[in-house]
This record gives sequence, C-alpha cells and structure tokens, in this order.
Amino acid sequence: MDLISVNREKCIQCGICVKICPPMILSMEENGPQVVNPKACIACGHCVAVCPNMAIDNIRTPRANQVTLKNFPVIDATTAQQFLRSRRSIRCYKNTKVPREQLLKLVDIARFAPTASNKQGISYIIVEDPKILKKVTEVTIQWMEANQSQWWSFPIHIRAYREHGIDGILHSAPNLIIATALKDFKNSRENTMLSFSYLELFANTLGLGSAWAGLIEMCASSKYYPLLELFNIPDDKKLTGAVMVGYPQYSFQRLVDRNPLDVTWM
Ligand SMILES: Cc1cc2nc3c(=O)[nH]c(=O)nc-3n(C[C@H](O)[C@H](O)[C@H](O)COP(=O)(O)O)c2cc1C
Repeated sequence: MDLISVNREKCIQCGICVKICPPMILSMEENGPQVVNPKACIACGHCVAVCPNMAIDNIRTPRANQVTLKNFPVIDATTAQQFLRSRRSIRCYKNTKVPREQLLKLVDIARFAPTASNKQGISYIIVEDPKILKKVTEVTIQWMEANQSQWWSFPIHIRAYREHGIDGILHSAPNLIIATALKDFKNSRENTMLSFSYLELFANTLGLGSAWAGLIEMCASSKYYPLLELFNIPDDKKLTGAVMVGYPQYSFQRLVDRNPLDVTWM
C-alpha cells in the first residue's frame, strides 16, 4: 500500500500539503501531489490535517485517527500568560489518592509535546504504591549519604529525613511519574523535558500539582542500582526523567517574577 493516497476528485491542487511537509516528501505534479521520498516521512500528520478538502491520507498517520475541529480553541493572551505563570512546583501534597483515570490523562497529553523529528519514543511508569514511593526516598537518601562530597548530597535533606522523617526528595507526593526511553535514543532527554512540561501545565487544569524530581533523575543517571531496581526498567531502556504528582495542599496567592528579560535584537 502506498504511503500517501490522494483522492484526485477532491484534490484542488492548492499545494498546501506540499508546502507544509517538513521533510519535503511531496511534489506538486500535473495531477496533484506525488510522493518523491516516502522513506523521509516523519508521520507528523500535517499533510492530512491541513488539507481543506479531505483529499489526502497517509497510512502512517491516518485521517481516521485525527480529530476534526471546527474551531481550534485559542485562549486570550492575558489568560494564557496567567495560566502559564501560575504553574508552580508543588512540594506540599494532600494525603489524597489521585484516580488512575486522572494520571492517565496527564501522560496522555504529555505524548503530544513536540519531539525531535516526531520520533516521540517516551514511555511512562506511574508509581502509586506508597511502599515503593517510600523506598524511592529511602534509597535516594542512602545514595546521598554515600556521596557526601558531591554538591547534590544535601545534608539538610539527609538530616530532615533521618531525624524527623521529612521527605525532601518526593515531598510525600502520592505519585511519581517516570519517563523512560531506549538507551540509544538520542533526543530522549529533550523529548522527556517537553513532554513533562505539557504534563505539568495540564496538571493544573485537573486540580493537580507537580514538581520535577531532579534528585531521582541524578540518582538514576549515576546508575545507583538500589533505585533502578525499584522501577523494573527493561534492560534496553533508561530513565530519562521523573516528576512527582498529587493534589496541592496550598494555593498560591500571587504570581512570582523571574530574572529580568534578557533579549538581543539583531
Ligand atoms: C530539571 C529540573 C530538575 C528539578 N529538580 C527538582 C527537585 O529535585 N526537587 C524539587 O523540589 N524541585 C525540582 N525542580 C523544580 C525547580 O526547583 C523549580 O522549577 C524552580 O525553582 C522554579 O519554581 P517553579 O517551578 O515553582 O516556578 C526541578 C526543575 C527542573 C526543570
């Protein structure tokens, strides 16, 4: 079966599909768009999604799997600015279970973030078992204790945990979402970061909060086996990111500022 099929009766030869294709696999010929380099298709779906006449289909990204929207929602700029600025890292969580359905919604939107060459390639492990979560904190503290000369071995975190049982690693969040990718996948970190950015922003719309678990990521990238074995990551995969999720205990009253904007015009 051909990669791309064109309904010649519907095609008005407007050429948008040709212009929009990122790897330029289409060329406009006398009888409509023709595929000139099918192997370069990245399955982004643009050709199919943009066609004003439903004349083109692509077996790698079938129209049947696309959603038709009459009006693509656009929120006003002020609302968007306030929404984006109101995402904050949450480090105090309610002791409330997050339904699986809500957690699935989070990772299901994360997979729509941009990825290099549309390779995607990120899988998620959702940890909800309190025993495993406790163990994650415990072994990460042990890893810090074993590496006390390193900058990321925070004595305050160790002491708070050992003396008062305070979890400064996962902040007692009821869930940890781990991203994984194949070991030889080059853009895995960038793809993970963008997917988690989507996840974190969308979390707010579900009344959830989140925070990057950077210490877990560092502990994993140092190949600390007691942590890695907790996640049961397949041999051909690596941990590429970690984010904690739960219902925020407190709400922020103000939007904070950042460093002054640094822009150069040329
Ligand atoms: C790569 C990365 C790693 C991070 N690691 C942690 C972490 O281990 N623990 C934590 O509480 N926050 C972590 N954060 C959250 C940052 O501290 C936070 O984004 C920053 O202080 C700005 O605050 P805001 O997210 O509330 O706007 C991390 C963020 C990023 C992007």
